[in-house]
Amino acid sequence: MKKKIKNLIKKKNKTPIVMLTAYSGSVSKILDKYCDIVLVGDSLANTLYSMNNTHKVTIDMMILHTCSVQKGIKKSILIVDMPLHTYDNKNQALKNAMKVMRETKCDGIKIESNKKNYNIVKHLVKSNIPVMGHIGFTPQFKKKFKVAGYSQKDTIKLINEAKKIQEAGAFSIVLECVASSSSKKITKALKIPTIGIGSSVNCDGQVLVTDDLVGLSGFKPRFVKRYSDIAKTINKSVKKYTNEVKKKIFPKKNNSY
Ligand code: KIV
Repeated sequence: MKKKIKNLIKKKNKTPIVMLTAYSGSVSKILDKYCDIVLVGDSLANTLYSMNNTHKVTIDMMILHTCSVQKGIKKSILIVDMPLHTYDNKNQALKNAMKVMRETKCDGIKIESNKKNYNIVKHLVKSNIPVMGHIGFTPQFKKKFKVAGYSQKDTIKLINEAKKIQEAGAFSIVLECVASSSSKKITKALKIPTIGIGSSVNCDGQVLVTDDLVGLSGFKPRFVKRYSDIAKTINKSVKKYTNEVKKKIFPKKNNSY
């Protein structure tokens, strides 16, 4: 296992882990200064490509964006989401994960749990591919949004699922929209760190989609906190530019050759 990933696991019960998404080098260059992990999430489907879900994302889309993101990374752990139907069986998963690792030089991949694919995690880890798991709300496998882990029965199921992913060799697990008390129990039951999104402060770290955090995506569910309003800034700038072009204020001599 890479030193960077070993050091990340050591943060459990010590320092909260910071993770955010990036789809380009210009953004990853900023995130790299602050984040432990930068994720090229398949959320790019919704955020960048205006798709209704993540189901049509391809390996080539993920590779292209990750190659850009990689240019901005100096120290963070770079993780890439494996799209739906790129890890349906062991051979396919290994072939695709190796392609992603080779072509992007990322540090590992993330796969969503369908409560059956523990053997895929095991196979990838055995082949030296660091794997991050993902449980709770898993957009690739669930049609309707639902918070997981409100009932005791659900919590026990989630703990078992997380333990199986840990046993398969994953180095960390994303908990997406898992009820707070359930997140606490899962986090306590594991040796590897949990990274929450909409899963409370009870996780070992937090992840958000950067476009949501800066107010670019327009997506504002309960679990998102907007730290800025970039859409407003872009709007203001474009309005001013339009006005200046129309009034021939821009370009000036010093903007011209
Ligand atoms: O695709 C993504 O951005 C993700 C995060 C929300 C964890 O999986």
